[in-house]
Amino acid sequence: MIKTVSTKPYDDQKPGTSGLRKKVPVFQQPNYAENFIQSIFDSLEGFSGQTLVIGGDGRYYNREVIQIAIKMAAANGFGQVLVGRGGILSTPAASHLIRKYGAFGGIILSASHNPGGPTEDFGIKYNVGNGGPAPEKITDAIFARSKVIDSYKIADAADINIDLEGTQTVEGMTVTVVDPVTDYADLMEQLFDFPAIRRMFAGGFRVVFDAMSAVTGPYAKEILENRLGAPKGSVLNFMPLPDFGGHHPDPNLVYARALYDTMMADDAPDFGAASDGDGDRNLIIGRGIFVTPSDSLALLAANAHLAPGYSKGLAGIARSMPTSGAADRVADKLGIGMYETPTGWKFFGNLLDAGKVTICGEESAGTGSDHVREKDGLWAVLLWLNILAVRKESVIDIVRAHWATYGRNYYSRHDYEEVDTDAANGLISALRDRLADLPSKTFGALTVEKADDFAYHDPVDHSVSEHQGIRILFAGGSRIVFRLSGTGTSGATLRVYIERFEPDTSRHDIETQKALADLIAVADEIAGIKGRTGRSAPSVIT
Ligand code: G1P
Ligand code: ZN
Repeated sequence: MIKTVSTKPYDDQKPGTSGLRKKVPVFQQPNYAENFIQSIFDSLEGFSGQTLVIGGDGRYYNREVIQIAIKMAAANGFGQVLVGRGGILSTPAASHLIRKYGAFGGIILSASHNPGGPTEDFGIKYNVGNGGPAPEKITDAIFARSKVIDSYKIADAADINIDLEGTQTVEGMTVTVVDPVTDYADLMEQLFDFPAIRRMFAGGFRVVFDAMSAVTGPYAKEILENRLGAPKGSVLNFMPLPDFGGHHPDPNLVYARALYDTMMADDAPDFGAASDGDGDRNLIIGRGIFVTPSDSLALLAANAHLAPGYSKGLAGIARSMPTSGAADRVADKLGIGMYETPTGWKFFGNLLDAGKVTICGEESAGTGSDHVREKDGLWAVLLWLNILAVRKESVIDIVRAHWATYGRNYYSRHDYEEVDTDAANGLISALRDRLADLPSKTFGALTVEKADDFAYHDPVDHSVSEHQGIRILFAGGSRIVFRLSGTGTSGATLRVYIERFEPDTSRHDIETQKALADLIAVADEIAGIKGRTGRSAPSVIT
């Protein structure tokens, strides 16, 4: 039986950079998840009889919302739901399933790299038929709908057994429970030279992958250990847990410290990597060297042709604006297009769909390609392994050779988390007011060349996105960017991105924060960070 349930709207269901993200108790309010899911369906057209993909990163409350979403999909007229066994689908695997099975769209339950548990974060995100995050036009419609919704439809049916692979039905809709890993692993096997990686592992190359008790565990086990023959135990923390074992599943140098320490030890393995809660981010560490995501993007782009899936070369590269310019130098040398987009993966969708770019990346540990429409943590790890297997050099040697060829972009991001919202907004608007004065001002040895509030003109659909971050560009390729996070769940997070270009190979060995010290001081001088936020130091430096 299909029930129509009366409800009252909530006023806070505005999707952010990556869907609706709130604390679990917020989602547990009566009809909260139902309202949002109905608002999604009410904002879409033409899905009757079509397929919907549903899955999540296994965090606390995942299984409950999966049941709700399946029953609501049935009541709203979808013809089929594909759901990952146990309710598990990494974000890139969900994107792949949508594309592979020609689904109308997908609902992904995740709060990415944020902690999970009864008082931690949860999230619901809608992806469209190309496998990518819903564009702003749709997320705006969802928010508008959520403010006036007065009822939702749900099947009055028993829970579906999501742990049993195969087909069941709810109110005439087919529910197919699929293995979450197989299709994704098969795709990776098409893109990369598995025999070469297998030979490398068989020759004693040591890899360690930290799944951080999040969704990539089963994927990494199957691909690295089963298909590629890495020794058992190469994948750490491989069981997805509702609270991620208390880990903060964000693969950065703070939360993946243990992996970093392992990789800096004398007896370190050859290659270390980690992914985040929902499997779309990556951390790459070679023996004795952390590879910044910005450098990783540039390196992967420069070497992608060594993998079978990219042997024809790249159409172009895209990076988010705050990501360092290292990839631009590669695009220049390859003579291919380079696109600078606002922060957030959704801005890459049009470029990928139009065939303008093949590889994209963000400084926030996101890298991916046109194989799906999300960033993809394991994809980046496998492309690295493919490159290492072909070049037969160490990570550190490959990175140094890259810097010698292209120059080094020293890069760091300073985050000030849970800052007072008014203080953060005040800091940005004061900067905005000063933009016109800054050009040709000097700060020590640094001269401002250009200062603006980044606006993006999408070359495909010609939409314009304004106020995407304050950029201060200095002569010689140095840069400071200020922007406020769009994914936080409490207060404001100020992100300061600092970059310095160093062409001189003899100066490629400076510790990053030292190399950037003058710019860090100038950032505070220009923006008054300490005075306005009351913080003497960033909460996280990456
Ligand atoms: C952050 C990252 C951004 C990424 C997003 C979703 O957004 O900076 O690159 O796309 O998470 O993973 P922010 O909090 O800065 O808005
Ligand atoms: Zn993520």
